Amino acid sequence: MSAASKPADGRDGDINPDQRPASLDDCRRCGLWRNATQAVGGEGGRRATIMLVGEQPGDKEDLAGLPFVGPAGALLDKALAQAGVDRRDVYVTNAVKHFKWQLRGKRRMHKSPAQVEIRACSYWLDQELDDVGPRVIVALGATALGAVMQDAKQTLKAAMGKVLKRGNSRVLATFHPSFALRSPSHESRDAAYQAIVQALARARRLADRPDANP
Ligand code: URA
Repeated sequence: MSAASKPADGRDGDINPDQRPASLDDCRRCGLWRNATQAVGGEGGRRATIMLVGEQPGDKEDLAGLPFVGPAGALLDKALAQAGVDRRDVYVTNAVKHFKWQLRGKRRMHKSPAQVEIRACSYWLDQELDDVGPRVIVALGATALGAVMQDAKQTLKAAMGKVLKRGNSRVLATFHPSFALRSPSHESRDAAYQAIVQALARARRLADRPDANP
């Protein structure tokens, strides 16, 4: 197996929970750095009142070094605009900061992160949450929800429509934008997209008027 196609899933003992790296570029807390171009940190102001959390960077994000700049990012931008949320007012990040992939033909295809990798990377998400202190966190998909709530057993189905809490932040859960892109029918794609828009609009209302009933 070539180095490029070697699976980087941390099962080879590549987990170093005691490492406390000063920067993302130095992070060796799990093995995903080996096959990634670079770490992709969060983007946005420290004073953002809304934080969006995705799963992990994709192929485009890995190359650009920025979160949500590929197809899922384009759908997210469209949903943000429709929900009346300016992306410049939002902090956007991922539960896992390195792209995990497997080769299919010549393409690097997304591979879901393992729980040990998500836990290792919570070191960074926790710091981002402390630094930004968002009023509202929107978890995009099940991986993000588990990471934000520090509970891998949380299900998207049970959480959607509810207002959860993490510290002083309220937490809303919705579909991952990639789910809205890949759903099999036009109807299911549209329903997922509308659910994302609704969650973002609710996040805006909650962030603007934290004491109001959303
Ligand atoms: N999917 C994610 O979860 N995050 C990104 O940054 C891009 C795609």
